[in-house]
Amino acid sequence: MYKNVMFALTLALLCMGALPASAAEEVPGKKGILLVAFGTSMPEATGAIESLTNATKAAFPDVEVRVAYTSNIIRRKLKREQGVEIPTPPEALAAMNDDGFTDVSVQPMHIIPGEEYDDLKGVVDAFASLRGKYGFRRLVIGRPLLSNVEDCAIMAGILTRRFGDRLAPGKAVVLMGHGTPHMANAMYSEMQAAITRASDRIFLGTVESTPTFDDVQAALKKARAKTLILAPFMIVAGDHANNDLAGADDPESWLSQFKKAGYGIETDLVGLGQYPEIAKLFVGRVAELLKQE
Ligand code: CO
Repeated sequence: MYKNVMFALTLALLCMGALPASAAEEVPGKKGILLVAFGTSMPEATGAIESLTNATKAAFPDVEVRVAYTSNIIRRKLKREQGVEIPTPPEALAAMNDDGFTDVSVQPMHIIPGEEYDDLKGVVDAFASLRGKYGFRRLVIGRPLLSNVEDCAIMAGILTRRFGDRLAPGKAVVLMGHGTPHMANAMYSEMQAAITRASDRIFLGTVESTPTFDDVQAALKKARAKTLILAPFMIVAGDHANNDLAGADDPESWLSQFKKAGYGIETDLVGLGQYPEIAKLFVGRVAELLKQE
């Protein structure tokens, strides 16, 4: 008799959808990947972001991959000029929650753990603290490309392999990173140190911080180069690469200043995101993240 009552009661609860919490957790989850880039408004530069996105999709065909941009200026410009709407990270996470994702891995395409990364981590931490229907069961964030000394050594290897054959005597590569007042800017000095261990013909400067253009110029004097290959050290070869680095009409661009200093110039305006080896590295980061508890 008692058993029958319990059975009827359980059945009634089930029908009402009033499942105890432990039973609700057994519902199968939905996994997703959110890739986060700074963004670019130059259609010819989006290839770098697409390359990393497509490599991720190809590596994890069973997991839906979405993309968010952290730059509001770029997001608004894309909407205004191209009618393209790319979500911010909090918008993307809210939408993924609404679409039933329970397990989300957020992988940034940023190079250093600077301000953009701090902001993104703040968003992820905030969502991860949510319980109940607006929260995720599992929400994790991956690290940027350069987060420690070993990352810099791996990147130095990628750079020397990419430019190695073109570094005939008298030639040198000048890379332009972004740079930031954030303490993570120190990663560029570590990166230069790692490059120097691997090659004496590749030099890294930043457009907005240190190492400066003058630092690069001073280092170049010792390298006795006559011709410089200018390349961006950014995921995307966008505005900075085309204007601040290689802008022929801008007397302040690195290209104009190096020309004035008497160097022959070649340009290699390919974003890091388009290097096959970087795509491989990036996919490895996502794989690590998917396994992370
Ligand atoms: Co900038």
